[in-house]
Amino acid sequence: MDEKSSSTIDDIFDRYLDAETSIFKNREVLSPHYVPDILPHRDDKFEELAKILAPALRGGAPSNIFIYGTTGTGKTAVTKQVLAKLKERAESRKLAFKYSYMNCQHVDTKYRVLTQLCDDIGIDVPFTGLHFDVIYQKFRDALDDLDTLHVTVLDEVDMLYRKSTESLYVLTRMNSDLKDSKISIIGITNDVNFKETLDPRIRSSLSEEEIVFSPYTAEQLNDILTQRANVAFQKGILEFGVINLCAAVGAQQHGDARRSLDLLRVASELAERNSDETVTEIHVRKAQQVIERNTVIEVLSSLPIQTKAVLQSIFIGEGRSEEITTGDVCEIYSKICKLVKLDKLTDRRVGDLINELDMLGIVTAQVISKGRYGRSKRIHLTVPHKQVREVLENDFRLSKIFDMDEI
Ligand SMILES: Nc1ncnc2c1ncn2[C@@H]1O[C@H](COP(=O)(O)OP(=O)(O)OP(=O)(O)O)[C@@H](O)[C@H]1O
Ligand SMILES: [Mg+2]
Repeated sequence: MDEKSSSTIDDIFDRYLDAETSIFKNREVLSPHYVPDILPHRDDKFEELAKILAPALRGGAPSNIFIYGTTGTGKTAVTKQVLAKLKERAESRKLAFKYSYMNCQHVDTKYRVLTQLCDDIGIDVPFTGLHFDVIYQKFRDALDDLDTLHVTVLDEVDMLYRKSTESLYVLTRMNSDLKDSKISIIGITNDVNFKETLDPRIRSSLSEEEIVFSPYTAEQLNDILTQRANVAFQKGILEFGVINLCAAVGAQQHGDARRSLDLLRVASELAERNSDETVTEIHVRKAQQVIERNTVIEVLSSLPIQTKAVLQSIFIGEGRSEEITTGDVCEIYSKICKLVKLDKLTDRRVGDLINELDMLGIVTAQVISKGRYGRSKRIHLTVPHKQVREVLENDFRLSKIFDMDEI
């Protein structure tokens, strides 16, 4: 490194350190992992949950609880805090109490659920090789020996149900298999239609009690943001209107506190990076673009290869003609499959994948009549082309298509 670039880097670090003192007092409280001890506007939910769980403090078994509400409404934060408090109280009363928290996005098979449960009560099971029934019996016997109440929190329970209906069935019925211990299940989801899709037998036992987390209003989000901002920023850093704007955007996004907090964090980071002295509404607007861009890219990047190939076909088709139909997409798709040696799906299946892209809000697919040739769909990309291209170019299998003349 020469002297000049070394001093440039020093400059950047100096500016960063100066900015740190001028904008943030405590940036940690804006991090996505930080949860404050006090959660404004959720007292009623704390109470509802605590009342249902309270029998645990007299050695009883609380009902199973089903918690639902849109994303970012505090379901996970409230549940974890109530359980931590309950554990504290149970311990001080020398009551046997255990709880497991699992996020079913990761713990999504019956084996994973049971090995985590075993792990949480301190029994070792090999991760593979044992039959499910054997692990189940091991857990059941060990739990019974502990003569305890066990609360199992299944967060994002819809993910588990989708992959393994059986594990939910087994868990909600487990009490009839236990003699000395009891188990209570708390299922949490942000999929508001999930309950309707549940097998009626599971639904009735999982939702013995229900708690609904309603979306936050703009005023409530305002309070949530103000609480964090008071700790996070030096005085006078936030321009008038910044908090209101972050709250308004969160309120539009189904009352999502996470979205509002993200906006405030990203906006202030943009101000800091720019060495600006205050955070303004302009920073918030820019932050909004950054966040939206990131979520689109995240969704597109995680699509399976076949869906990406269909997306690429739509992308290429749209570059050539104002209006493209399912037939056009299938034609380009079939060329792509040949060029990159991908198994070609039937036209019908490609139609299904187009519908999936429609459901994800990536394309619109409108039915049009083609007279005596039957019906087709007019397809239109609804996300920025630049981002679609960026994601496809990052896929090593599909990126080469852009350089091929044959397509
Ligand atoms: N009342 C509140 N006061 C302060 N912060 C809150 C409040 N509610 C939620 N938050 C914050 O918003 C973020 C999202 O909350 P949480 O993870 O509990 O939402 P969720 O309902 O579980 O969402 P999802 O359905 O996406 O899992 C967290 O960072 C949390 O700290
Ligand atoms: Mg959650």
